[in-house]
Amino acid sequence: MSLSPASLQALADDTAFCDALLARSQHLREQLDARMEQVLVDQLDGLAAAFKPSQVEVEVDEATRARLFEIVARQWAHVGEQMPHFSVLSHEDWRPEQLTAERLADFYETGRGELVLLRRLLSQVGLGLPCKARCVELGCGVGRVTVHLAPQFGEVEGLDVSPGNLAECERALAARDIRNVRLTRLQAPPDIQQLAPYDLLFSRMVLQHNPPPIQHYLLRELLARLRPGGIVVFQLVTGGPSYGYLAAQHLQKHATTDFEIHALPMPAALALLRASGCALLDVFRDTAGGFNVSSYTFLAQKL
Ligand SMILES: C[S@@+](CC[C@H](N)C(=O)[O-])C[C@H]1O[C@@H](n2cnc3c(N)ncnc32)[C@H](O)[C@@H]1O
Repeated sequence: MSLSPASLQALADDTAFCDALLARSQHLREQLDARMEQVLVDQLDGLAAAFKPSQVEVEVDEATRARLFEIVARQWAHVGEQMPHFSVLSHEDWRPEQLTAERLADFYETGRGELVLLRRLLSQVGLGLPCKARCVELGCGVGRVTVHLAPQFGEVEGLDVSPGNLAECERALAARDIRNVRLTRLQAPPDIQQLAPYDLLFSRMVLQHNPPPIQHYLLRELLARLRPGGIVVFQLVTGGPSYGYLAAQHLQKHATTDFEIHALPMPAALALLRASGCALLDVFRDTAGGFNVSSYTFLAQKL
């Protein structure tokens, strides 16, 4: 006897009937279990195949690194010149033509959430903010977070590539009479080697705008300058559907007036933490890189 697809569906929808049938037939139950197992294996395999960390080039020679950094610097110089606040948070209210004094104040208030996040992350692992400490903020932008970090630390060094954003950051600090922040413009990868030792790194929505070899290099150099006991909180995009990266291809074809989103695969990030003597204390998935990519915030401490 053969049943029509509609009848089969009706039977399948009748869970009581299906349960009774399966209870009576061991053979049927085994067939179903095997099929379900295969479905799960196929699904997981599909997920893993969608992104291959091995197809992301994370290390390049010095000359290539310099050229890749130049691309990032040019992109952020452009958007920092045209629309600094909007380049940091893409909401219509922050476009230059919409930015009233009231909206500007609202914009800077959004940065308070990052300080709340930092405090909560630390308190969840039994740590507090090291108040007299030296904090480094990679990609301080227009100072949205910097103005909230500054009162919590002995000193803050804000690093950025965008002259326009740094100028806005300086204005925001002056308007609040904040004097313990030093701003540094990174113009080439080796500039990071001038960074003095520090106690806490904070960086969200920054590394993701850099090609993987730049993210890898900056993280390695930043972690090398973290003092023992020091803390890092940074966010990365670790992958996305069909993301792959080859520096040679990127050098040939890249955006010139807008920023890009790139990934640093999780295995590479974890290896960097391990190699620098940092213990991973927490990691959580976030939406800082958008909704269609894997983005994570890491909390780690140097041993
Ligand atoms: C989306 S904004 C975020 C700014 C800030 N973190 C915030 O949350 O308000 C990214 C900032 O990172 C800066 N940036 C991008 N790549 C950088 C790099 N390699 N080194 C330093 N700053 C960088 C950009 O110029 C821009 O100001």
